[in-house]
Amino acid sequence: MTKILLSGVKPSGRPHIGNYFGAMRQFVELRNEYDARIFIADYHALTTLQNAEEMRQNILNVAIDYLAIGLDPQKTLLYKQSDIPEHTELAWIFDCITTVPYLERAHAYKDAIANGREATVGLFNYPMLMAADILMYNADVVPVGQDQKQHLEITRDTAEKFNRIFGDTFKLPEPLILDTVKIVPGIDGRKMSKSYDNTIPLFAEDSEIERLVMNIVTDSSAGVPKNVYEIHKLFRSVNELDKLYKEKEGKYKKLKEELIVDIKKFIAPLRERRKKIASDKEFVLNVLKEGGDKARALAKKKIEEVREKVGVKLYK
Ligand code: ADP
Ligand code: TRP
Repeated sequence: MTKILLSGVKPSGRPHIGNYFGAMRQFVELRNEYDARIFIADYHALTTLQNAEEMRQNILNVAIDYLAIGLDPQKTLLYKQSDIPEHTELAWIFDCITTVPYLERAHAYKDAIANGREATVGLFNYPMLMAADILMYNADVVPVGQDQKQHLEITRDTAEKFNRIFGDTFKLPEPLILDTVKIVPGIDGRKMSKSYDNTIPLFAEDSEIERLVMNIVTDSSAGVPKNVYEIHKLFRSVNELDKLYKEKEGKYKKLKEELIVDIKKFIAPLRERRKKIASDKEFVLNVLKEGGDKARALAKKKIEEVREKVGVKLYK
């Protein structure tokens, strides 16, 4: 049987080339090997994004982004989490079998608190909703970044605990952590991230690409500008690059110009496709709506089984 691949994406703003090469591209590449389900984790985003207009925009934008990079709604189930209230129902059930000290060990939670975020109940329970997202659909593999590894372990622990208490119900999913493109650097040399304002957006305009690449921080002591080279590697083979960087050793401006040409060539068709899709909002809403209906039908079946197992189901 075809294995189920599932992953969630928070609607948290414009995606960048780090997101694309680190995560998004895999969703498209693996779509034929797996029964793939990609959803928009809007209720997870609600832990940080509390502005209705921005939320609506971001959800729509993520859907457009995924369609633009080539996710085909005929092949990949694309939906948003909040359309399936069974996710939050299952999260509650998991809350009831999970202890506070156990969840207090979650790195993401601890980091958020250390960074001065308010300790909301939603932030604390984040891993329970994530476990529900995954276990609801019997996912086999979950492609995520390294930072989500612990959340996957919590998901597996939760499945095991439920199965132990109520009998075999949930499949244990495997994380799929890609190490081909580990960390794409941003224009300042730190990890490229929306939170550092150092990104090259995936659907950037030409003028933006020019400006951002010219601003990549270079170390004047080295013959090869490391950050430029690392980003360039995403767009050209190492063989070609090594030749080019030897020829133009020390000529940082020339090398950046070469990178600009390569990024523009790569981004232009994606950006055009995105514009076309974005102009048909009805189509995008329909994809989400239909995806939500299909996902909900699957979730309803699973939640019936769960209600039966915990003993709250008394009639059909
Ligand atoms: P950001 O740090 O920009 O907010 P997210 O946390 O939304 O990014 O990450 C979305 C996905 O993109 C995750 O799977 C994450 O591992 C991947 N990702 C984010 N930044 C990078 C990067 N610089 N290099 C490689 N992958 C990345
Ligand atoms: N927590 C994930 C992130 O921050 C998003 C997410 C929510 C998710 N539910 C998921 C990822 C289920 C994979 C599977 O990126």
